[in-house]
Amino acid sequence: MKTMEVRLIVNARPVVWSIAPGELLLDVLRREGYFGVKRGCEKGECGACAVLVDGTPVNSCLMFAAQAEGRQILTIEGVADGGTLHAVQEAFLDHGAVQCGFCTSGMVISAKALLDRRPDPSKDEVREALAGHLCRCTGYLKPVEAVLAAAGKKRRTRRTKAVAEVAK
Ligand code: FES
Ligand code: FES
Repeated sequence: MKTMEVRLIVNARPVVWSIAPGELLLDVLRREGYFGVKRGCEKGECGACAVLVDGTPVNSCLMFAAQAEGRQILTIEGVADGGTLHAVQEAFLDHGAVQCGFCTSGMVISAKALLDRRPDPSKDEVREALAGHLCRCTGYLKPVEAVLAAAGKKRRTRRTKAVAEVAK
């Protein structure tokens, strides 16, 4: 089988993959052990396979692995900071937004991208960011509440830091 090499960054670590030219990013990520990237519809409709590519959510079932050359990929495995969960992950747990968890990694990835871009989103913006993710368990109310709560927590942390800076 003809193979090619791609060099990229996954979860802040440089990697070199040997892939077939037509392989999908989803297939290669799972082969490389990133099992948090879920295989759902494989048609770009459920969002379970979402990862960030240079900060933008992408359904990895719709992208060739070869297109990842030189890109920065973030999977759910890279969202927590060591042992500290991301605010969105914590909020999903606190708000009961996780049941079977199949959709969760994709939702967290898209929510993180939203908060990186829009630290203080409206409810409609959160709904829009999660619109490409199908959940057969919790519905959408709790995930939306969780993302808004995470935004609120980050806002309070920013304020506390700003106050501490002024007080120095
Ligand atoms: S598996 Fe990729 S969008 Fe459903
Ligand atoms: S928590 Fe089960 S599909 Fe969303």
